[in-house]
Amino acid sequence: MARVKKGCEIWAIGGGKGGTGKSFVTGNIGTYLASRGKRVILIDADIGGANLHTILGVSRPRTSLTDFFERKASLADLIVCCDSSNMGLVTGDLHSIDSGNIRYTQKLRLFRQIRTLETDYILIDLGSGSHANTVDAFLLADKMIIVLVPEITAIENMYHFMKNVLFKKLKISLGSRGFKEFLQDTWRNRTTYGIKNIKELIDYLRKHSTEVREVLDRELSGFRIYLIMNQIRHTSEISIGFSVRSVCMKYFGFKTHYVGYIEYEDLVWRCVNEQRPYLQSYPSSRCAKEIGRIAENLVEGRQIKMTYS
Ligand SMILES: Nc1ncnc2c1ncn2[C@@H]1O[C@H](COP(=O)(O)OP(=O)(O)OP(=O)(O)O)[C@@H](O)[C@H]1O
Ligand SMILES: [Mg+2]
Repeated sequence: MARVKKGCEIWAIGGGKGGTGKSFVTGNIGTYLASRGKRVILIDADIGGANLHTILGVSRPRTSLTDFFERKASLADLIVCCDSSNMGLVTGDLHSIDSGNIRYTQKLRLFRQIRTLETDYILIDLGSGSHANTVDAFLLADKMIIVLVPEITAIENMYHFMKNVLFKKLKISLGSRGFKEFLQDTWRNRTTYGIKNIKELIDYLRKHSTEVREVLDRELSGFRIYLIMNQIRHTSEISIGFSVRSVCMKYFGFKTHYVGYIEYEDLVWRCVNEQRPYLQSYPSSRCAKEIGRIAENLVEGRQIKMTYS
């Protein structure tokens, strides 16, 4: 696979539940980075539900990922201009009717070409759910970002998504060393082995042999998820992000970086409906400031503190 250009970072934005604000966050973090002089390419990889162009106010894009899948067009040729000259957009697959079933070879071609794009940041907007294509694209990224809203169903779907992501990571890491069967057998018989969660699965696997332990230590040491809370209506909801962080460590055994929160703001949906990019319309709003802070935290790898307000 072609090496990513030095300095280019791929960020994937997912999260399980639909409507949490993944596309809104992707579009506006991209806009923020571009306003700071970074070159940004946004890729709408929400197969079957592409609408990032609408959030950015790009009407009727000439090209889309449909051309990539059906005409074999190159990804670089599909980038359309956004308001900012620093930012380009690859519109999602708008016209296919069977887009959920991307062939494995098409997926590899897409991932390979994403890594060759000449830019500073590539932001991939993913669809909801835990479909294998979504999980694979999420794992492709240098930074895996989840957008969560303070709602019990969103939290449940997020944990389900995280579980799928981590299990796929284990499958890739151990599968390439001939331990795929071992992983699957262990998981299938987890009740017999007294394994109650993914962390206990990993602990069990680690005891198998030095080789397995070394593979897991190497592959999982840098594994972390970046968390954004969106549509916050009350300050007490900010703390949900810290609780998620603790739960992830306890039951999955990986670190979560809580990079910030965004308030619920009526002007957001008004902008979406009017197809006006939010950050450019309201650059001084609290939401815009929060988005800027989140983008900076992601760039720097920082997270917010418990006392944050
Ligand atoms: N901070 C916010 N304040 C108010 N409304 C918001 C906020 N963030 C998102 N929304 C609203 O939620 C709607 C869904 O947002 P968005 O389309 O970004 O979600 P999504 O996670 O990408 O959804 P899908 O899973 O369908 O792709 C938007 O149309 C917008 O009106
Ligand atoms: Mg979306």
